Amino acid sequence: MRLNSPQINIIIRACMKASRSLIRDFGEIENLQVSTKGPGDFVTSADKRTEKILIDELQKAHPEYGIVTEESGIINKANIKNRWIIDTIDGTMNFLNGLPQFAISIGYEEENEIKCGVIFNPIMNEMFCAEKGNGAYLNNSRIRVSNKKKINEALLVTGGPKGASKIKDKIFSEYINVSNNVSNVRKFGSAALDMAYVACGRFDGYWQRELNYWDIAAGIIILKEAGGFVDFFENDEGQPLKRNILASNSNIHDELKELINKKDIE
Ligand code: IPD
Ligand code: CA
Ligand code: CA
Repeated sequence: MRLNSPQINIIIRACMKASRSLIRDFGEIENLQVSTKGPGDFVTSADKRTEKILIDELQKAHPEYGIVTEESGIINKANIKNRWIIDTIDGTMNFLNGLPQFAISIGYEEENEIKCGVIFNPIMNEMFCAEKGNGAYLNNSRIRVSNKKKINEALLVTGGPKGASKIKDKIFSEYINVSNNVSNVRKFGSAALDMAYVACGRFDGYWQRELNYWDIAAGIIILKEAGGFVDFFENDEGQPLKRNILASNSNIHDELKELINKKDIE
């Protein structure tokens, strides 16, 4: 693997360390599913426990860096030049239900640009990583997006809407529009892994609304370095924290964007 920036090595080390406790916690879920209390509180504490390990490791290397996290908020707010963007468990609902489709996702941002990132599914032992200019990898092998050119043969993935979403109708009509024009659409429940899977050619494209930056920060660099195209749509122009993403193998990008922007359902 040709990735060699200090930051990627720091992220990989932090992920490896935190994943040991996360794997143990995932092993407990099965027992908790059948208990009367259920696994909800346990998962919240597993999230916090894992996040603490990640933060401690990252801070050991760079106490001065800013950190943006889902669970603990923003640390070292004043440092906006160098920031770690962390999603400790992306795919919490899967984790909670004993489904092994979740990942630790960490991106490193410098001067508002993601420079490197890691998405690690500790149960499948799949580590996706990339660094600007040095390509993208799954474990030790170089990855590339698919070469599919026809949108009607494409396998896509999407996510949402969240339970509290106020734009469910819009999201469902986009879904119908897209699914009428592609081979099929999947919904796997981890935005980070959805992006990683486009990066290695398992899916040809991905779109989703109402995301948070930590869901996709690492995915952006992994997908770009794998030859994919990352775009943002509607209301996202000029927004620093873009929420509506469209990512693809780049061949099918324009057609996919057109389908999503189409107002009428076919
Ligand atoms: C969620 C997952 C899911 C996406 C949601 C995210 P979480 O993140 O990425 O796939 O549909 O919008 O919030 O809550 O599991 O970290
Ligand atoms: Ca999360
Ligand atoms: Ca997430």
